[in-house]
Amino acid sequence: MVKIAVFVSGGGTNLQSLIDTTKSGYINGEIALVVSNRKKAYGLERARLAGIKACCIKDEDLLIKCLEEEGIELIVLAGYLAIVSERLIKLYENRIINIHPSLIPSFCGPGFYGHHVHEAAFKRGVKVAGATVHFVSTVVDGGPIILQKAIDVSDCKSPEEMQEKILLNVEHKILPEAVKLYCDRKIIVENERVEII
Ligand code: GRF
Repeated sequence: MVKIAVFVSGGGTNLQSLIDTTKSGYINGEIALVVSNRKKAYGLERARLAGIKACCIKDEDLLIKCLEEEGIELIVLAGYLAIVSERLIKLYENRIINIHPSLIPSFCGPGFYGHHVHEAAFKRGVKVAGATVHFVSTVVDGGPIILQKAIDVSDCKSPEEMQEKILLNVEHKILPEAVKLYCDRKIIVENERVEII
């Protein structure tokens, strides 16, 4: 079983989708640790309710020590709004997965996070949107893309409506799917491109 750490900063609905799909056996992995940079993140509470070790860690040395102590192989950033250091990225090369709520390379990069993504996409009047799961590299939202899924958002009347539609219909499906592929050893990275075998 692959030992997974999930990093969250907020409500943690993506974390919940991973808790559900690991507990049901859909994913051949175990969430051994949930980490937040915010003490009040509801994601920490979700983890505790599921019996998963959860803590707020801001110090990098301590974070790396915890990951090593728990034998973590894979890190999933599920709405983690803090900078992941180059040191951690190098230590976990192609072993950190992030979910971004747009179809990369649209609406991504510095400044495009959380509601900013949906506000920009809504303002631009996009008719199709979606989400991307990718490996984390030192370029913001620039690592190898694992999965993407598009959805029609032409009926959405506000950025908030778009955000919810994408979260429920896209993110909660492709994040567990990507983690499952990783745990089943079906992801190969070659020349900064993902191939699914
Ligand atoms: C998601 O939209 C995710 O793509 C983004 O932050 C949001 C987190 O939502 N990075 P939740 O905390 O998982 O509910």
